[in-house]
Amino acid sequence: MDKIIISSPDQLAEAARQFVGQMGDDTVFAFYGKMGAGKTTFIKAICEALGVTDVITSPTFAIVNEYRSEEDNELIYHFDFYRIKKLEEVYDMGYEDYFYSGALCFIEWPELVEELLPMDAVKVCIEVAEDESRTVTMGPLELDAPATEESVASEEEKA
Ligand SMILES: Nc1ncnc2c1ncn2[C@@H]1O[C@H](COP(=O)(O)OP(=O)(O)O)[C@@H](O)[C@H]1O
Ligand SMILES: [Mg+2]
Repeated sequence: MDKIIISSPDQLAEAARQFVGQMGDDTVFAFYGKMGAGKTTFIKAICEALGVTDVITSPTFAIVNEYRSEEDNELIYHFDFYRIKKLEEVYDMGYEDYFYSGALCFIEWPELVEELLPMDAVKVCIEVAEDESRTVTMGPLELDAPATEESVASEEEKA
């Protein structure tokens, strides 16, 4: 899987096209990266590359935002689990109906719901370099290591 480099914000559209080209048949994408890494920004660019034309806002206050691609009329779900306090909130919102719907799901803060992610979710990591460029990598999720407070803390340290 190639790395995607976003050297500046004006490269976002091209980077999003590259990402879409690498999505294959996968539908659930878990975006890891520290606060400010550019998860919301990149997901927004990906949605635009997929033909979503309505204004896409950060779903910080709602756990899930729903978009529709004008190109193929398919739904796309954008999750932000940053504010969840317990998994019960995620059960209550009916996460399975989304994750297993076959529709595209882009997830911010997947660390907080790691045990609920489908086995075939794709791990996407966004890292910020000193020059503010972003490096995006995609790979399989390693679900044999469920998130603990320690692992989340060490992810944050790494980031
Ligand atoms: N590829 C990029 N290059 C430069 N700045 C970026 C890039 N992506 C995002 N940013 C900036 O970083 C800040 C945080 O982005 P955001 O997408 O909200 O991060 P996150 O969702 O990971 O917390 C915003 O001010 C945004 O303009
Ligand atoms: Mg965000």
